[in-house]
Amino acid sequence: MKKINLKYGFVLIATALIMTSCGGDKGQNSSTTETSTTNELATESETSEFGVGPIQHQVSFDGIDADLAANGEQVFTQKCMACHKMDKRHVGPALVGVLDRRNPSWVMNMILNPDKMVQQDPTAKALLAEYLSPMANQNLTEEQARAVLEYFRKYDADNQ
Ligand code: HEC
Repeated sequence: MKKINLKYGFVLIATALIMTSCGGDKGQNSSTTETSTTNELATESETSEFGVGPIQHQVSFDGIDADLAANGEQVFTQKCMACHKMDKRHVGPALVGVLDRRNPSWVMNMILNPDKMVQQDPTAKALLAEYLSPMANQNLTEEQARAVLEYFRKYDADNQ
């Protein structure tokens, strides 16, 4: 008998809670909705296919520029090889084919703004969850980052 009473008591409390939340001040409810919509939009723009960072336009490619690629290879050797191999997982992911799996603007932002990327971009967050150590910002200029992309393109053209 005691059990049944408890059950009814729970149902009553639950019903009261539901009624309160549904019958609450309409004005307050709609402003809550507005705020969450705005937040969703902000989140969406932060986590576009470009990711979070200075590159918010589509990086487009032409024919492969061999000089730029050679320049990018040098930057890669100096600033990235401690953590990345092209063909194998190391501290970070293998970077072969990265331009097939990610938007080039996203790759630029990952290079230029890794700290914010792993905090705010869902794909980068998932990578951090998998690789555990965060990617370091190597303070490349946009031109250097673009050169590294050219190296990736050349590498993929030669190796895929
Ligand atoms: C301190 C180690 C470290 C250095 C240095 C580093 N990275 Fe990373 N990188 C990582 C890790 C680890 C990840 C995976 C994301 C995470 O855990 O933060 C990553 C992720 C990436 C990704 C995304 C890969 C994918 O599969 O989407 C790219 C692109 C990348 N790095 C490029 C570079 C480039 C280019 C440089 C040199 C300018 C560089 N990284 C320097 C550790 C590093």
